[in-house]
Amino acid sequence: MLRVAVCVSGGGTNLQAIIDAMNSGKIQNARIVRVISNNKNAYALTRAQAAGIEGVCVSPRDFADRTLFNEALLASLNEAEPDLIVLAGFMVAVPECVISAYRGRIINIHPALIPSFCGKGYYGLHVHEKALQRGVKVTGATVHFVDEDLDHGPILLQKAVGIKENDTPEILQKRVMEQAEWIILPEAISLIAQGRVTIDNNGITHIKES
Ligand code: GRF
Repeated sequence: MLRVAVCVSGGGTNLQAIIDAMNSGKIQNARIVRVISNNKNAYALTRAQAAGIEGVCVSPRDFADRTLFNEALLASLNEAEPDLIVLAGFMVAVPECVISAYRGRIINIHPALIPSFCGKGYYGLHVHEKALQRGVKVTGATVHFVDEDLDHGPILLQKAVGIKENDTPEILQKRVMEQAEWIILPEAISLIAQGRVTIDNNGITHIKES
């Protein structure tokens, strides 16, 4: 049984997609052992509670400096003994101490097709604003492993989403979530739970046929 910790900051629709996929059997052999939010008011924590999953808040506001927050985040993760950490709309730069302790075991969902529209400043609605400003006709979402550089680690899954005339960042964000994020994030967890994912020495992921 793959023990999964999920880190969130906001509404938690990606978390909900994971919970639903576990309940429906789309993800087997995995369970969420803890949800960690940096924001005590995140609706994601309410979703966790409703699903009977332990939810905790580890907020930078509750610590005197960043180092203490980073240590508390690592301690909260360690306590949950996860095999996999899923960043599902987690708006915090993951500290190096967490990355080195869980290398190859942290995945993130990014609402664009990496390497487009990613890196510093590309978060939340900004990602979709920039895609519309650039006039691309296709965008999407990416699940990737997390390394020290922002939105940079090995790519696991991607799904494309078409852009339509008259899209606003809000409309596009919703379509990318519905048609890509909520599908590929549970799928990524399922593949990892089945032991079908490897990362080679060049940082390329490989998925074994089932
Ligand atoms: C998603 O668009 C995710 O890709 C992004 O933040 C959003 C989180 O939404 N980085 P939710 O909290 O899962 O509803």
